[in-house]
Amino acid sequence: MLKIAFLPGDGIGPEVIRAAVQVLDAAAGKFGFSYTSEWFDLGAERYLRTGETMPDKEFARLRDEFDCILLGAFGDPRVPTNIHAKDILLGLRQRLDLYVNLRPVKLVDARLCPLKDVGPSQLDMAIVRENTESLYVGIGGSFKPGTDDEVAQNVMIATRKGCDRLLKYAFELARARRGKLVLCDKANAIESAHGLWRKALKDMAPHYPDVKATTLYADVAAMRMVTHPHEFDVVVGDNMIGDILSDLAAALVGGLGLAPSASTHPGRTALYEPVHGSAPDIVGTGKANPLAAILSLGMLLRDFDYPAAADAIEEACARAVIAKAVTPDLGGTLTTDGVAAWIVAGL
Ligand code: NAD
Ligand code: IPM
Ligand code: MN
Repeated sequence: MLKIAFLPGDGIGPEVIRAAVQVLDAAAGKFGFSYTSEWFDLGAERYLRTGETMPDKEFARLRDEFDCILLGAFGDPRVPTNIHAKDILLGLRQRLDLYVNLRPVKLVDARLCPLKDVGPSQLDMAIVRENTESLYVGIGGSFKPGTDDEVAQNVMIATRKGCDRLLKYAFELARARRGKLVLCDKANAIESAHGLWRKALKDMAPHYPDVKATTLYADVAAMRMVTHPHEFDVVVGDNMIGDILSDLAAALVGGLGLAPSASTHPGRTALYEPVHGSAPDIVGTGKANPLAAILSLGMLLRDFDYPAAADAIEEACARAVIAKAVTPDLGGTLTTDGVAAWIVAGL
């Protein structure tokens, strides 16, 4: 039986995860599967109360006792260092070695695209973000902090193993999609780390003759995503580039409220989460769009072999968008719970 850990987190995280769990329960009833679950009290509240971020015991349980995690968001204005988010969110990605961060971006209603004359058939891409390396490895520090001579350093890491395993995933995905892959990097400025990505791509491409593999500098990629979005199919970037391009891409299809993600490594506890953060500006207002969390749940169910439930959830979300049964960020008037109820009824 599927074992899911819920990590609602901070801000709007608990609001959108509660909504997604309502949809999960409805899907389980309709499609006849069952699951076990446990809610984990991790986040800013607990950190402020006890000083704990991700205790080893809880990490070990998440690693050993669960198939997957459905996570809300971490980040709280009362914790300006963001230490708890680093330990919990980046900690899970790194310690579980979840090297693939898949962020599908698909336009379902032309109304939501800020670009002129772009419809659903022209905007359907998958961002494949490396999720364990680059500038996110936490190597570095400050020297003489608080003085005029302060020095700050963060080290960017690229490993051949890290490039190869992500590219292999991306090539396989491109093969199953429209057969196009673009690596986005700054190899013109960051020759060593991003040069290694290009070398790995060049070596792997001949093994996938059916995939058209190209490279773009990430700044140009950002521009072309806006001017020629239909050119993009599978988009590969390191941890930093992938982070930035995935928010840009999300903005082309309706924004962060619609952007799901999956962080995976075969055989490890998998992590599903909306791309958005804890949105402190709208917490408690009912304005949090739950669709990104619900679509992340859809990715979870697809990965764990419930494709009919995943299809039904995806279709219900698309119908909600088209019917404007959505929160204000997408031009609707429903609340978080109202959208969840609409999706549940749709299932
Ligand atoms: P954010 O994604 O929280 O919010 C950016 C903007 O988008 C805000 O105006 C917000 O209201 C809006 N927004 C985001 N999600 C929405 C939703 N579901 N429905 C409607 N509107 C939504 O990014 P931020 O403001 O830069 O960061 C806030 C905090 O979240 C920070 O602490 C940041 O580090 C953290 N964060 C966490 C994650 C994560 O846990 N995966 C991701 C991004 C940011
Ligand atoms: C994301 C977020 C995180 C990241 C932050 C909160 C550290 O922006 O999941 O995209 O940069 O990975
Ligand atoms: Mn991000």
